[in-house]
Order: sequence, then structure tokens, then C-alpha cells
Amino acid sequence: MSFPPSYGGPPPWQRAGAPRPAAPPRQPRLDQPGLDEPEDADPSAAVPSTAAPSEAGTPVAEAAAAAPARTTVADRLPLAIGPTGRPMPVFPEPAPLTRHGPARVIAMCNQKGGVGKTTTTINLGAAFAELGRRVLLVDFDPQGSLSVGLGVAPHELDLSIYNLLLQRGVELADVVRPTKVANLHLLPANIDLSGAEMQLVTEVAREQVLQQALRPAYDDYDVILIDCQPSLGLLTVNALTAAHGVIVPMECEYFALRGLAMLTETIEKVQQRLNPGLEIIGVLPSMYDARTIHTREVMARVVERFGDHVFHTVIARTIRFPETTVAGEPITTYDTSSTGAASFRQLAREVLAR
Ligand SMILES: Nc1ncnc2c1ncn2[C@@H]1O[C@H](COP(=O)(O)OP(=O)(O)O)[C@@H](O)[C@H]1O
Ligand SMILES: [Mg+2]
Repeated sequence: MSFPPSYGGPPPWQRAGAPRPAAPPRQPRLDQPGLDEPEDADPSAAVPSTAAPSEAGTPVAEAAAAAPARTTVADRLPLAIGPTGRPMPVFPEPAPLTRHGPARVIAMCNQKGGVGKTTTTINLGAAFAELGRRVLLVDFDPQGSLSVGLGVAPHELDLSIYNLLLQRGVELADVVRPTKVANLHLLPANIDLSGAEMQLVTEVAREQVLQQALRPAYDDYDVILIDCQPSLGLLTVNALTAAHGVIVPMECEYFALRGLAMLTETIEKVQQRLNPGLEIIGVLPSMYDARTIHTREVMARVVERFGDHVFHTVIARTIRFPETTVAGEPITTYDTSSTGAASFRQLAREVLAR
């Protein structure tokens, strides 16, 4: 993985002093509602633990603690097949950070609307924040859905990202606001941003305006997530220029595949002309419904086309997500023990593991 020199080296989780466990403990498989139980379901579930809590302090437990770590039979059995049709790896709990920054910038991008970009931005951000990461969410859609989803009324904003981009004297700190979730901050947007696209056309280095605007945030945050608008226009090109990586949420339906070709082309152009370090972090299957054959067929095609770029984690279709928008908070706090919350926690670990 390479990063443009201007971003100050590798992301926090790849720096020295933040070691990842070499052999992560097996974790229970994430249950996806509606998923058929695979025939070779996680075998570790059937193997009893060698040191149950009730045994603590007993001679058995002490002997187990003294013995060198050894692999169990379950560790050597194949992993269960996940919803993407590939063996589901275990994503380790990342080590806590001892200091913050430099930020890794990730754009949520897909020119199709209603595919889960905003939902992913809010909930992945909240899951990162739960892991102790300092997270800045950037609303880069004039519709302001990200702001609404975090309980902010876009039309009541005095200052938005529009002012930061195009008004002299407005600084990042003037516009950023906290959310109900600790460590999760928001750069809000509203309809003013729709005018920015036109105004940016005449700016010098018009593709780099967002990158410049976000630069002061790099040292304060570990992750910056940009929620793009559903188009491949100048705003989205700005997001791709500012980003280290792209996450592409996609709905599991046939026409989604055709749109992805256009998006890949745009990403390649930005890589060639503006941001050589830009990488596709992953394609995220969203609104996944394992009960339909269509979903499974599309999934097979997506994996065929994008291979290991497809996340192992998928986001199942559930009414819980529209409910969280009404509540104005992430699913991780709205319904903390739901499958949707667990999926985004797993996605956060998977992104950090990539
Ligand atoms: N996994 C899901 N299951 C059910 N509804 C979802 C899911 N993800 C998103 N939605 C809903 O679908 C709509 C569009 O999602 P959104 O994240 O706003 O997409 P985008 O930002 O790509 O336009 C929203 O009403 C959202 O609540
Ligand atoms: Mg959106």
C-alpha cells in the first residue's frame, strides 16, 4: 500500500508501536439474518473452551496458563464460508492507539444514489470511534443526508463545508461540530454546496480544494470519512483527490455492476492525473438479502469481477437503518446489540486489517 508523501507516511494502525496480535483468537462468526446455515459452519463453536471462567485459580487453569500457547483442533479446520461465498477470516480487535493522527482519508463513493454511502459513512465512523479512533465525517453531498443522519438540521447551519471551501477566513474549526458520539465529529453540508461545483470550476487547482481544506485536520484525527454525492462530478473528484482510499458501497442488484465500471474508470483517471496513491480499499455489498437468488447471483458476479477487493463483511437489509436516520444517530448507539451494529463493527476491523 502506498501513500502520497504529503500525507506524512503510513496510517496510525500501521505505525511502529501499534502491533497487531500475530495469532488472533477465533471469534464467533457474525450472524447475518436470513443466511442459510452453511454446512461447514464454524467448527470452533463446537469445541469447548480450555479455560472456562469458573476454572480460574484452579490447578487446571494455572497449568493451562503455564503451558506454552498451542493451537486447537478448531484452529486447523477450514473457516466457515461467508456471505460472499469465500471463507470468512477472523478480523482481530485492533490495538488501542497511544496517540492520534495522521489521518487516513477514505471516500465513500458510488455515483448511484440509495446504495448505502451515507449509512456506511455514519456507522463505519461510529464503529471506528468505538475503537478509540478520532473520526471526522465529511458531508460532501448538498442533500446533507449525513448531517441529518447525525441529528443536524442542514437548513439551520450558519456555516457549512461550503463556507470552508469557498469563503476566505473560514477555518475548519469554525465549521466542525461534535456529535452525540464521543470521538465522532461532523463537517456538515447543506444545499449551498450545490453552488460550489459551479464556483469551483474557475478556482486554481479546482480538484484540490477539499484536500487543502482538510489538511489542518490530519494531525487531530485518525480517520476522515467523506460521504460523496451520487455523481462523478467535480465534488466527487475533489473527494477522490483528497482520499487515500475509496470504499464503494453497492446494492446487490444487477444494474449496480454496470455503474461500477464507470466508477472504476473515474478512479483510474484520478489515480493517473491527480492522486497516484489512491487505492480501492473495498467494495461493500449493502442491502444484502441472502434469501433471494438474485442477490446471490449478483454477489457471485461481483466477487468474480473484483476478487479480494470485495469486503468479506456485508451489510444486510434491515429496517433498523432507516430508523436510525429518524433517530439522528448511528446504529451502534441506537440499537447497540443489533446485527447491523455488529456488521459495522466487523467492517471497521476488516478495514483496519486491510
Ligand atoms: N442495509 C440497509 N437496509 C435497509 N435500508 C438501508 C440499508 N442501508 C441504507 N438503507 C436505507 O436506504 C436509503 C438510502 O441509503 P443511503 O445510505 O442514504 O444511500 P446513499 O447515501 O448511497 O444515497 C436510506 O433511507 C437508508 O436508511
Ligand atoms: Mg447519501
